[in-house]
Amino acid sequence: MSEVKRVTTETLRKKKAAGEKIAMITAYDFPGAKMADEAGADVILVGDSLAMAVLGYDSTLPVTMEEMLHHTRAVSRGTRRALVVGDMPFLSYQVNADEAVRNAGRFLQEAGAAAVKLEGGREVAGTVARLVKTGIPVMGHLGLTPQSVQQIGGYTLQAKGAKTALLLLDDAQALADAGAFAIVLEKIPIEVAAEVTARAPVATIGIGSGPACDGQVLVFHDLLGMYDGFKAKFVKQYAQIGAAIREAIGRYVLEVYQGNYPEEEHAWHMERDELEAFRAGLQG
Ligand code: KIV
Repeated sequence: MSEVKRVTTETLRKKKAAGEKIAMITAYDFPGAKMADEAGADVILVGDSLAMAVLGYDSTLPVTMEEMLHHTRAVSRGTRRALVVGDMPFLSYQVNADEAVRNAGRFLQEAGAAAVKLEGGREVAGTVARLVKTGIPVMGHLGLTPQSVQQIGGYTLQAKGAKTALLLLDDAQALADAGAFAIVLEKIPIEVAAEVTARAPVATIGIGSGPACDGQVLVFHDLLGMYDGFKAKFVKQYAQIGAAIREAIGRYVLEVYQGNYPEEEHAWHMERDELEAFRAGLQG
């Protein structure tokens, strides 16, 4: 197998400097990570969206460190080129910086991630600085921060007024000053994302924040059309995998019910002499 050059935080810095776009996607398991990696994604985020996309919760709040580590290990095993980022779950970094270092360190030490992501601006800048000093690369996350959904009151557009937009610029600066290597900008107006991207010395990765960002991220299951329920305005479905899976499983179930699967070609016969001995044995 040929040697593949890993994407690093330095690769992302160079891409931003060269005006090259960064492609990021979430993944939660070995096959998903392998496909995303082979398809050329620069960054694979093991998002805490795991809670909703895979574990069936109705917010990201319930997912635990142990669950995040379990899935990050699988993603790391499936990845050869992409930078793997582990998303720090709710309460794994907010209590104090010591706990944040311990939990973030586990993503690198136990799960093969190369970086972590956490939500928030100036209020987490001190923690980001501690992590970076410890040698843990950090990706920030501003705008719609789903771990604060109860406070925000829903998954709504953020920084839509001048005042909150200016505060978001301060937050981005604080994260960059603290040493974050990139910042996710979720669901903010195009104009605000463009301004952050122009000012920030680090890469911005947009989701629902328009085309000006240095890169884009989508949730694996959204991009592939795995669900036929609610689809956010910013999601582009590049395939309808959910419909294809349902159709395929439906055909399998029907063929089993009808006795049409498996056919002989999907099974094995005994060797003739073994079969004769077997039959003789059956007769006593
Ligand atoms: O958890 C997640 O998947 C994320 C992305 C949407 C950025 O935070």
